[in-house]
Order: sequence, then C-alpha cells, then structure tokens
Amino acid sequence: MATSTVSKPPRARTGKTGSTVFLKVLMAVTGIIFVLFVIAHMYGNLYKLFDGHLAFNEYSEHLRTIGEPMLPRHGFLTIMEIVLGVSVVLHAYAAYSLWARAKAARPQRYVVKKSVAQTFSSRWMRWGGTFLLLFVIWHLLEFTNPKINVGDGGNSAAIKNDPYMLVVHSFNVWWLTVIYVLAMIALGMHLRHGIWSAAQTLGFTSTVRARTTANIVAVVVALIVAVGFVIPPLAIAFGGIK
Ligand code: HEM
Repeated sequence: MATSTVSKPPRARTGKTGSTVFLKVLMAVTGIIFVLFVIAHMYGNLYKLFDGHLAFNEYSEHLRTIGEPMLPRHGFLTIMEIVLGVSVVLHAYAAYSLWARAKAARPQRYVVKKSVAQTFSSRWMRWGGTFLLLFVIWHLLEFTNPKINVGDGGNSAAIKNDPYMLVVHSFNVWWLTVIYVLAMIALGMHLRHGIWSAAQTLGFTSTVRARTTANIVAVVVALIVAVGFVIPPLAIAFGGIK
C-alpha cells in the first residue's frame, strides 16, 4: 500500500495555544512600555534632583505643560497615566492567566521537575510583581495624589505645593528609604527576568549570540534603572541632597 508523503499543513494557532502566545506577547509589549517609562522617570529624578530645588520644581511643572497649547495642561501626563494604567491591568491579567493555565495543565503536582532556578524565577516574578504593584500604589498616594507626607511638615500646603521638599522630607525618613531601596532591588530583579522573557517571546533568542546579547541587555538595563533610582533617596538620607 502506498504511503502518502504529503505532510499535513501546520495547524492554525487557535484555542489555548494561540491565546497563550497572545498572552505572552501582551506581557512583553506592556512590559516594554514600563521599561521605557522607568528609564525616563529614573533619568528625570536623577538629573533634576541633583540640579537643585528650583530645577526639580521647574521640571515637575514642565511635566504638566508638555504638549501645550495643542494639549490642555496636564494633558500629556493624563495620556501617559491612562497608557500605564491600562498596561498594568493587561500585564497583571496576562500574568495571572498564564500562571492559572500552566497550573491547570500540570497533570500532577511536582511530576515535571523544574530546575531550582526556574522555580525561583517564576515564583519571584509573581510575588515580586505583586510587591511592585503595591509599591506603585503607595508611591502614587505619596507623590501625586493626595501627597501623603510621612516626613517633617506633615500634609501642610507648603509641602504639597513644593515637589522638591516633599521628596526631600520623605527620604529623610529612614524606613521609607529602606522600603524604596527594597522596592528598587525588586524592580531590578523583575526587569532582569522580564526583559529576558520578552526577548524570548518576541523571537530575539534564537542563536547563542542573540541569547548572550539579550542577557547582557537585561542585566545592564536592570542595573541602570535600579541603581539610578536608588541614588537620590540614598543621597537625601545621607545628607547629600538637602
Ligand atoms: C526611588 C525611586 C523613585 C522616586 C524617587 C520617584 C519619585 C517620583 C516623584 C517625585 C513623582 C511626582 C512627579 C511629579 O508629579 O512632579 C513620581 C511620580 C510617579 N512615579 Fe515615581 N519615583 C520612583 C520610582 C518609581 C517607580 C519604580 C515607578 C513605577 C514602576 C514609578 C512610577 C511613577 C508614576 C506612574 C508617577 C506618576 C506620574 C504622573 O502622572 O505624574 N516611580 N515619582
């Protein structure tokens, strides 16, 4: 009997596999939006806080007037907040769905052995991501609205209307600085793993050279962002910025 050598056409990526790919791309794309934002935010803080009181407050005011008169006051920030807010929701939704799906697909717990490193990084991404989400909620309450100041001056109008003093008074509180340092370590680790995963999802790790490059980019970006962010709070805490 003749056997057919015609291979079947590849199956379209629909259903669970297709949507798994979609969820991973969604995580990668929203992750890239965060990476671009944190680089810009870190750079702005680092540069302008060391530039002094007036320069930082001018910078803060400038953020509210970007795009004027084409956009209303605060227009650019509002667009950015919407993009970031939607990205957070989609990122968390995709993370949860992928985790729930992987859990359901496991026939029996612990039958498929993951390496210690794999187990650590997937757990880390879940718990570290949750910690970062809580951190960002606190951070916004502290520095944008309603501006909860835990340092000297309390919630007086003088502090609320002076972004530089709000930041300086905040990081004069040692435990707040400790929370920020821990959060930035968590952010660095999340970025390191997240950038590597995004590179894999988007197909930038198919050769040894590409994998090495992706690894280096992930480590360098994570270090620059984490170190760049912690320098101003530490400088304030140790009296380098007053
Ligand atoms: C040591 C680290 C950080 C410091 C000192 C810092 C400082 C600040 C300050 C002073 C503001 C208010 C800016 C203004 O309105 O004039 C701000 C806003 C903001 N920060 Fe941070 N930040 C840090 C880390 C982060 C991180 C890691 C994220 C996110 C992952 C983040 C997300 C935001 C967002 C979304 C806003 C609101 C932007 C807006 O709409 O005005 N920040 N931050």
